[in-house]
Amino acid sequence: MPIFDTHAHYDAEQFASDREAVLTALPAAGVGLVVDPGCDVASSREAAALAERFDHVYAAVGIHPEDCAGCTDADFDAIRELCRREKVVAVGEIGLDYYWKENPPRDFQEQVFRRQIELALELDLPVIIHDREAHGDSLRIVLDYPGLRGVFHCFSGSPEMAQELLKRGWYLGFDGPITYKNAKRAPEVAAITPMDRIVIETDAPYMAPVPFRGKRNDSRLLPYVVEKLAEWKGVTPEEMTDITWQNGKRLFGLE
Ligand code: NI
Repeated sequence: MPIFDTHAHYDAEQFASDREAVLTALPAAGVGLVVDPGCDVASSREAAALAERFDHVYAAVGIHPEDCAGCTDADFDAIRELCRREKVVAVGEIGLDYYWKENPPRDFQEQVFRRQIELALELDLPVIIHDREAHGDSLRIVLDYPGLRGVFHCFSGSPEMAQELLKRGWYLGFDGPITYKNAKRAPEVAAITPMDRIVIETDAPYMAPVPFRGKRNDSRLLPYVVEKLAEWKGVTPEEMTDITWQNGKRLFGLE
C-alpha cells in the first residue's frame, strides 16, 4: 500500500523551482495520495489548481490563523466558491495560533475560525485544524459544534485533550516532530489513539523528520514518521502505512 500524506503545502514558495518535478516523482516513490491545504485565498486557489493537475493530489481551502489579518467577506466568499471544486475535500487549514506575537488578535482569530467551521458544517466537509499554543480555546470552540468532524493537524495537546477529541470522532495528525528527541507528549498521545484515528502528515515544506530536521520536507520523508509510530504502536511500518492510508481516505471521503 502506498503512503497518504494528509497535509503538505506544495503550493508554498519553497517548491517554486521544482514543484512539478517533486509532485510528479511522488507516486513512483511510494506516495499515492496528498492533501494540500491552503492558508489564504491565493494559496487555496493554487492548491485547488494543483489538485486538478495531478491525479494523486487533493486540496483543502481555508484561511490560516497566521494569515487572517484583514480578511474580508470577499475572502470568505472566495473560499466558499473554491469548496465547490470537485477535488476540494476539506476546509483548512483553519484554527488558532497563539505562538507568534505578531499574529492577529485572539478574538479575531476566533471569529475567522468559527466562520469557517460553520462553512464546513453547511457544506458537510471535514476541517483541518491548526492549534498552536491554543489548546484550551481550540477545544472549547470545536465542542460548540457537535456535528463537526475532521483532524487536529500535528496534534500537540495533552493526552486528556486527545481523549476528548477521540471520543467525539476526531482524527489526530502526526508529523516530523514525533521523531525529535524532545517529543514528550507524542508517545503518550499515540498510545491512547486508536489505530483507526491516526493520520500521517509532513506539513511540507516544514517540519522535516530526523535525520533531515531543518531541511526542506516533502512527502518522500514520511516513512521516518511511519517508522516511529509503528514502533510506538507495536506494528510493522507496512501495517502503519496501510491503516493510515485507509484512515486518510475515510477522513476525506475518498473511499
Ligand atoms: Ni500546515
